Amino acid sequence: MKNREDVEKSNRSDNRPFSSVLTSYSSRRRVLRGSLELAAAVFFASSPAMAEPKGKARGRSKLIDFEPVPVEGGGGAMPRIAEDYEMQFIIPWGDPINPSSGPAFDWPPSAADQALQIGKGHDGMWYFPLDKSGNRGLLALNHEYGFRIDFTGDFSNPFRAESLDEVRVSQHAHGVSILELASVNGQWQHVDSGYSRRIHVNTPVEFSGPAAHSPRLQNPAGNPPAGTLNNCSNGHTPWGTYLTCEENVHFYFGDPGGTFVPDEFQQRYGFPFDFHGWAAFDPRFDLGNADYANECNRFGWVVEIDPTDPTAPPVKRTALGRFRHEGCAVTVGRGGRAVGYMGDDENGEYLYKFVSDKNWEALRAQGLSPLDHGKLYAARFDDDGTGEWLLLSLENPLLAAEFNDEADVLMFARKAADIVGATPLGRPEWTAVGPDEQVYATLTAGHDGEGSILRWRDSDHHVGTRFEWDVFVIASDTFDTEATFNEPDGLWADPDGRVFIQTDGRGQPSGLNDQMLVADSATGEIRRLFEGVPGCEVSGITVTPDRRTMFINVQHPGEFTGGTTFPHDPSEGIPVPRDATVVIRRKDGGIVGS
Ligand code: FEO
Ligand code: CA
Ligand code: CA
Repeated sequence: MKNREDVEKSNRSDNRPFSSVLTSYSSRRRVLRGSLELAAAVFFASSPAMAEPKGKARGRSKLIDFEPVPVEGGGGAMPRIAEDYEMQFIIPWGDPINPSSGPAFDWPPSAADQALQIGKGHDGMWYFPLDKSGNRGLLALNHEYGFRIDFTGDFSNPFRAESLDEVRVSQHAHGVSILELASVNGQWQHVDSGYSRRIHVNTPVEFSGPAAHSPRLQNPAGNPPAGTLNNCSNGHTPWGTYLTCEENVHFYFGDPGGTFVPDEFQQRYGFPFDFHGWAAFDPRFDLGNADYANECNRFGWVVEIDPTDPTAPPVKRTALGRFRHEGCAVTVGRGGRAVGYMGDDENGEYLYKFVSDKNWEALRAQGLSPLDHGKLYAARFDDDGTGEWLLLSLENPLLAAEFNDEADVLMFARKAADIVGATPLGRPEWTAVGPDEQVYATLTAGHDGEGSILRWRDSDHHVGTRFEWDVFVIASDTFDTEATFNEPDGLWADPDGRVFIQTDGRGQPSGLNDQMLVADSATGEIRRLFEGVPGCEVSGITVTPDRRTMFINVQHPGEFTGGTTFPHDPSEGIPVPRDATVVIRRKDGGIVGS
């Protein structure tokens, strides 16, 4: 979902911001560029934004061959796809998770029906094949937010609940759907399945890892942990599980009695911020209710889900820290260690990395989770193009001086990262790991409000604490070209070196709607593959194992503007736009993005 700019920045540290680091770095590069040191200094010689002057045609891509969606004709009411491609729309919000037996979509849904229907706010997702062909599989799909059931078309606030019934419907629209998809005669279908499942705000969950037994996760009310919130981007593990990431969890916790005074930790996480209005009706979300004093600490985590076991509770992995988790791109580093890269989406927040202590297979052979045993780091960017991953643990003397309990370091990771001197960034959102160990992160705000994509490579095959960085692309450098975009958000790197860029802006350049583009990481060439509809964002990306089918989402099509006729006509009596998944294939059956 589009984050609100009117939220007060919660980082009050005086850590040096990335915009300052980048200014110094860029001037150093300009000096070096004319010298014999150039070859050594330009770590990523192909960096598109910095290697070529604005507007100049970039290198010819061998990876991207499709005819791009042109700027001309953009901003229309219906989605556009590149002419070498075809698209299909499936699994809109409100369809039953088992198509032939669940409650059919009806407006307005009851809370009971919504708990058996696909949620709203389609965001991160991953496809888990169920057979060798890859033509049958499970889709784990995040739902970032809910909606009002008595919504009447006032788009100034489509979320804020005004009754307990509205709260429950909204809660059941959040979370994750596990759905089975199958390709039948070239068309993708949503099919009935024993794996179909909805996980929402009232689903029992477990905590695991170093903070699991912290008293800060227990309430005087004694209510067991339940639910996942604001499920934004995602990750997936080498052992076949799904990670859903809890982002703007402060949006749900209010203070209707006006008695709550946030401490320095709660302030750092943005509490209270009663955007959804739940606190007046559900005491779990009332920060002033002493019986639920620690409920707010139960959200803001990375949550692991086994899509193939409908009975297994989701597990909140505390070793990955607590912040406004956007996503978690997982890779395997030196020695088989599981490594996860994570953004914290607020202006002035940090990038984080988790590294498991041992080989992931060895840990699992001992019955241990690789996500419970490891170290958390936050990134500091230096103006010589290097950087350091700073340890967030009591083993770091800077933190031992401020914290008594390892659980608190993880629970208040933002505070720990302030203390160790991490670099505040312009809204770090998705991360992606490409071939050649290059890691990418979108900065939706970037250094100039338009956004950029960072790229770096860690020492010691992902597990080291040093890295070298550059800026892969500065969005404003694409303005007035056919590749124009701003406010990058969703991101995925394929194994060939293509980088898929999805946008979530308050208005794309040249009048375009939010969109998805493909970049060649070697040449820097960027082409537009898909354009969404007015008011939407394009979010979520996954592929079949052969990469001949890609799934992306059109989130809140028209939610903030109204009037969209995609994917349904509001005159049909459904006032709330229906998020949907887009199936994308090349007409010639080739790899998507080529
Ligand atoms: Fe859920 Fe930062 O986007
Ligand atoms: Ca965003
Ligand atoms: Ca996002």
